[in-house]
Amino acid sequence: MSLSSPASPANLHVVILAAGKGKRMVSDLPKVLHAVGGRPMLGHVIASAQRLGAARIVVVHGHGSEQVLARFGTVPGIAWAEQAEQLGTGHAVAQALPALPADGLALVLYGDVPLVRPESLTPLLAAAAAGGIGLLTVELPDPTGYGRIVRDDGGRVLRIVEEKDADAATKRIREGNTGILAAPLARLRDWVGRLGNANAQGEYYLTDIIEMAVGEGLAVVPHTVAAPEEVQGVNNRVQLAELERFYQRAQAEALMIAGATLADPARIDVRGEVSTGRDVQIDVNVVFEGRVVLGDRVRIGANCVLRDCTIADDVEIKPFTLIEQAEVGTRAQLGPYARLRPGTVLAEDTHVGNFVELKNSTLAAGAKANHLSYIGDATVGAAVNIGAGTITCNYDGVNKSRTVIGDGAFIGSNSSLIAPVTIGAQATVGAGSAIGKDVPDATLAITRAPQKTITSWKRPEKKT
Ligand code: UD1
Ligand code: CA
Repeated sequence: MSLSSPASPANLHVVILAAGKGKRMVSDLPKVLHAVGGRPMLGHVIASAQRLGAARIVVVHGHGSEQVLARFGTVPGIAWAEQAEQLGTGHAVAQALPALPADGLALVLYGDVPLVRPESLTPLLAAAAAGGIGLLTVELPDPTGYGRIVRDDGGRVLRIVEEKDADAATKRIREGNTGILAAPLARLRDWVGRLGNANAQGEYYLTDIIEMAVGEGLAVVPHTVAAPEEVQGVNNRVQLAELERFYQRAQAEALMIAGATLADPARIDVRGEVSTGRDVQIDVNVVFEGRVVLGDRVRIGANCVLRDCTIADDVEIKPFTLIEQAEVGTRAQLGPYARLRPGTVLAEDTHVGNFVELKNSTLAAGAKANHLSYIGDATVGAAVNIGAGTITCNYDGVNKSRTVIGDGAFIGSNSSLIAPVTIGAQATVGAGSAIGKDVPDATLAITRAPQKTITSWKRPEKKT
């Protein structure tokens, strides 16, 4: 096999180390469940393994096993290996080996190193496919805490020395071990089986396999990452926040490259996946969660939150709007301060204005609710005008019921539509009505008490 022969995904097996306690997180949540970009760190690592086409993924778990399994236990294609006592990274890998076949390639990843790119991993796989070890390293201005990569005069990797075992000269080496490596499974099994723990920490170091491989004349092929953040581990919440910013910067850049103008790339958060159309404009402090699809020329004002929604072309979303599990049609205008709750579907040219809340409702083309309304469990026809303060009374304390409003109907301000109720097409509801019976097409319904004028009335006077 030559160095350039690509690793075949069919025989690639990924071991993810995730047994550590993460004491410095000061958290009841296992470290690998803390999120970057809205997704648990372990989720990022599993996704990387899946993108590489791993035939099998083994997660070594220990601390917080119950919570980790509750979150990821049902993900297909993952085997779980428990490491009851954390005796070192070599010991952790040993726990995974029984779940793996005799041959093939192994790639070791870390549950608390979430942002490594597949492009950085493929050279390691090529080295392992050629029979050696592919080792991911990082150049750091201050590599304190990292194992150091010791090379000979010719630049060949000889071994890795842990910080705690390093002498002063070794500590001056700025090339650090990321911990991520790839090796042939059969060789890995042999090396890991021979690891000892006679070192400063009394641990079984995975890093000791490098010296073993060198001793056997095998190639250890180092690959240095371009950006250190990619392999930055998380030990505390300060580092978690640093990684979050790094991740968000990358998300912002991807959006800009794809055609969105961002008022400030430092003030946008993507906690999921956003696909953007051309010439989209996004003002400051906009948060995206879940899967969001933006059409062409969508404009999003400051301080909006969009979660799991599809926004069609030319929609304008004014500031302080919250959208969850909704579909918004072409040229719709929302906000400021609009709230679309799950199940809202707005057709083209609809308007939803300030302090209007919609839930499980559809607005057909051109329908408008511009001010101060609650529209729940409603089917609203085309070009309907819903006056300010209109409420669909969809809940009787036990059951939810629907309101149906026909095309072209006009609902006067401050009306209560008591569901189940149907307002006919082209019907008018007088302002201030409480409508509990169906309104036929093209009629006027009004429940307001007649206005009286009392000419003899005197204003009360203040008692002295
Ligand atoms: C390890 C490397 C070091 C490297 C550093 C990068 C070894 C001996 N050292 O050091 O060269 O520079 O990572 O961050 O490999 N884990 C287990 N079970 C264990 C021990 C660790 O699952 O028994 C997991 C941890 O949860 C963590 C990862 O392995 O995700 C690394 O463990 P950690 O203790 O942080 O390793 P370091 O000593 O920092
Ligand atoms: Ca570490």
